[in-house]
Amino acid sequence: MLFRALTAVGLSFTLATAAPANAQQAAHPEPWSEAAVGSHVDQEMLQGVLTKSQLQTLIEQGKALFVAKFTTADGVGRPMATQAIIPTKRKRPLQQSFQRLPGTDSNACSSCHNDPIAGGAGDFVTNVFVSEGFTNADFDTSDPQFSNERNTNHLMGAGLVELLAREMTADLHAQRTDALRAARETGAPVTVQLVTKGIDFGKIIAEPDGIVDLAAIDGIDTDLVIRPFSQKGVIGSLRQFTVNALNHHHGIQATERFGKRWTGEADFDEDGVADELTPGDVSALVAWQATRKPPVEIEPANEEWRQLSKRGFAVFADIGCADCHRPSLPLNGLRFSDPGPFDAAGTLRPGESRQDAVYDLALTEWAKLLPRDENDAILVPLFGDLKRHKIADQQVSALGNELLGQRFVDRDVFMTSELWGIASTGPYGHRGDLTTLDEIIRVHGGDARQSRDRYVAIDEEDRIALIAFLKTLVIEQ
Ligand code: HEC
Ligand code: HEC
Repeated sequence: MLFRALTAVGLSFTLATAAPANAQQAAHPEPWSEAAVGSHVDQEMLQGVLTKSQLQTLIEQGKALFVAKFTTADGVGRPMATQAIIPTKRKRPLQQSFQRLPGTDSNACSSCHNDPIAGGAGDFVTNVFVSEGFTNADFDTSDPQFSNERNTNHLMGAGLVELLAREMTADLHAQRTDALRAARETGAPVTVQLVTKGIDFGKIIAEPDGIVDLAAIDGIDTDLVIRPFSQKGVIGSLRQFTVNALNHHHGIQATERFGKRWTGEADFDEDGVADELTPGDVSALVAWQATRKPPVEIEPANEEWRQLSKRGFAVFADIGCADCHRPSLPLNGLRFSDPGPFDAAGTLRPGESRQDAVYDLALTEWAKLLPRDENDAILVPLFGDLKRHKIADQQVSALGNELLGQRFVDRDVFMTSELWGIASTGPYGHRGDLTTLDEIIRVHGGDARQSRDRYVAIDEEDRIALIAFLKTLVIEQ
């Protein structure tokens, strides 16, 4: 009606040429629609290894969904569902649809992941209050008794991170299988040091009767699955994270978890919109995230900076930072299957499509730039180890600031932050309350205490050099 009235008074030119706010709106068959999601992606179209142009289309659809400001017309809000990962009903309907603490807290993924570009990190103001959401669904205080406050980390290179985790998990599982077989054959217990890609996850003892003693594993869950996502290292895949985040932040329910199959309802949150996002939509979001260009190490043009950063990298290795923040880990393959091998019930699972979709990251422009080792493995320059460590102790305790355990991981244990992109992603620390690199380094306690003490003890010049090196690890815009 309004559109026609304006046209009648000669404003059609302005309307027709106004730049759409984002690609998704452009794709909407009705450009005046208040819904951000124009059309849904059909998972049936994503079979086997996608061609370059199929992948490109899917990535564009994913980008549009990542930056889309979802509205009530798309199903924003969850009047009768909590933020819990497992679909959980509220006892009473919500009074306010948006609430900064337990959510619904924002309109778009890129509301938080936006610095310095979409898919990047976020300022303190983008912090999220993480609670598993069963007992305290409606907390209205940032008091740490009710939630763990976490700062937004970046998603650049996330596909490579997930692929590394998958290869490492497969490797550890093979080591467990071999140990069990050897124990059965010899009739004696077999002890195995679990090492994959040079990272040591402690040891297991396989008994001849098939029991595995897990008391001495280190920095990993008892199922020996590496979960590389979240600062805590408790989420296994981009797909799981995406389905969680859609519900938590936006009150948008993916049918693969909240739909009829598992909950018996098409509109689980009772907001009047059924089947809010399809498996294909989630795949598009995953494909976009998995293909983000990884951060890079720049060669500074400034001569003094160049010299300092060279020296700083040597200091970084020398004082033990690189023991956890490994400059690179070798990756054998670039084919990202989606769903992934460890996706479980609650996300689409392998084998549920005619053929699982595969995104070949080798088709991206950036893949060609990654260095390879002598075995032709890609060296992923993440400056991490995908392992969890204790990061606080009695004296150096600032990072032991959380009061709630998450998934049975101790409160002062976190996954080593990948430092690629660190120069572009301040503030620092899991709560994002440290403004300089010097500050976050000085609060490393626990397993990092020795390395931190050496940082404090070295010459001022060496400390400056170390920071100058970290400042070369950037997200390119
Ligand atoms: C309100 C802010 C906010 C919004 C909106 C948001 N995120 Fe996040 N995101 C975060 C925070 C904070 C973390 C770290 C969480 C933690 O450590 O527990 C995170 C972590 C992630 C991670 C894990 C990254 C890693 O390396 O550990 C992924 C993947 C992710 N978000 C995807 C998404 C997607 C997809 C959306 C939209 C559906 C989204 N996020 C919306 C704040 C946000
Ligand atoms: C025992 C393993 C370990 C060692 C050794 C270690 N770190 Fe860390 N590092 C971590 C963990 C775990 C975190 C995440 C801390 C948190 O909870 O915020 C982290 C976080 C960081 C961060 C902040 C990342 C961000 O995005 O906020 C920086 C910077 C950093 N480390 C640099 C260093 C430097 C420099 C050294 C050497 C002096 C070092 N680390 C030694 C494990 C380690």
